Amino acid sequence: MAVQRATHIFLMSFYALLVILAIFAVPESSADYCGNVFETTANRVLLGHVIDSVLDIDEFECRLRCIGEKGCKSINIRRNGNKKNFCELNSQNRQTMPQDFRVENSSTYHGFVQVSCVDISSDKKRQRKSRLCHPGYHGERCQPDHKGLYSHHPASSCKEIRNAGHFKTDGEYWVDPEKNGNALKVFCDMTTDGGGWLLISSIVIDTAAPNQMTVVSSYRGINTSQMVLTKGAVNELRSHLGFTQIRFHCSRHPGHIFHVATAANSTGEAVVQYFSGQTDIQPNACGSFVRMDNDNSIMSRQCHQWGWENGTYKVGKWGHSRDQDRLYIYPAFVYHGQHWHTSPHGTRYCDDGGSSKTAGDFWKIYVR
Ligand SMILES: *[C@@H]1O[C@H](CO)[C@@H](O)[C@H](O)[C@H]1NC(C)=O
Ligand SMILES: *[C@@H]1O[C@H](CO)[C@@H](O)[C@H](O)[C@H]1NC(C)=O
Ligand SMILES: *[C@@H]1O[C@H](CO)[C@@H](O)[C@H](O)[C@H]1NC(C)=O
Ligand SMILES: *[C@@H]1O[C@H](CO)[C@@H](O)[C@H](O)[C@H]1NC(C)=O
Repeated sequence: MAVQRATHIFLMSFYALLVILAIFAVPESSADYCGNVFETTANRVLLGHVIDSVLDIDEFECRLRCIGEKGCKSINIRRNGNKKNFCELNSQNRQTMPQDFRVENSSTYHGFVQVSCVDISSDKKRQRKSRLCHPGYHGERCQPDHKGLYSHHPASSCKEIRNAGHFKTDGEYWVDPEKNGNALKVFCDMTTDGGGWLLISSIVIDTAAPNQMTVVSSYRGINTSQMVLTKGAVNELRSHLGFTQIRFHCSRHPGHIFHVATAANSTGEAVVQYFSGQTDIQPNACGSFVRMDNDNSIMSRQCHQWGWENGTYKVGKWGHSRDQDRLYIYPAFVYHGQHWHTSPHGTRYCDDGGSSKTAGDFWKIYVR
């Protein structure tokens, strides 16, 4: 009996220790601050009263959801097989349904205890000064920092950033394709054809170093200047990102532009598979791409004339090679006509077969 009571008192103080204030809706003008008090119990869940569940959000966001959801009285943070957090919003709590309050290792129960409003203006000033926010939140009022802006809060892809709708400008963003905390800064094109494009290869003619180009064999080497990827690197990226389109965009002075994106259908998919080395079968050119608005190339209108296969030219197919270099050695070309070609030795063709190149001419490849 005494032991039981001691345990009980211990547990109560344990709860008290774990009571946490969730910051919520602080009007700038008011000194009053309202917090929602939760009690937390490790290795426990409330079973059978779930009104909503959300995958892969953290504890803080899960609490905010509960606060925002009418009828939510408590939450369970559970783990599914992939070790992702699973947030469950419950219509009851452990006080109203004690019989459903169960042991479940590595899950956590958070019960809504009360809402209290206090004057904490001095604390607020202190917090503002030190800028301490929960991870994933920033600024004076600890606003959520949208995914993609910081290395500690990356998105998985440019497409995800585009879909979230917060950022609509082209530029550098942070992505973590493997979702393992190893974020990478990449360039996202958020404006062309709906945006969401991740730049995977980029050559820009620079008169100071006209032949400069690095062949990168892991997607981790992606950056915004003078690099191309091997098929292995594209494959690696595709295994993490599952992109479904590739876009080729080259521009040559004055005003010659080849600009096509693979079609979102099986013919376009065959092209994605070829360039990511999932197959060596050279894909058909015709019906595999759509011309972007500014494309004015000769090549994009001659799909039947493309390629080379088994010693024959003009077979109507993408590519030239079955090797690692398929993305940059004649990925698309018409024999004795126009080519896309960026050789490590410095030869560069953009819808031509040998004109001189000027500073600013570029070859860029994106995936989405
Ligand atoms: C939970 O963990 C404890 C300690 O590791 C273990 O003794 C117990 O069997 C586990 N319970 C369940 C239901 O897995
Ligand atoms: C891009 O990567 C190449 C090869 O790894 C490297 O030489 C170059 O400095 C990098 N450029 C930038 C801007 O990071
Ligand atoms: C795929 O899309 C392209 C471009 O819109 C179109 O020309 C082609 O006919 C489509 N192919 C199939 C198999 O739907
Ligand atoms: C080239 O050879 C492959 C394998 O033998 C065959 O599947 C393909 O149809 C051939 N292509 C042409 C254009 O003859």
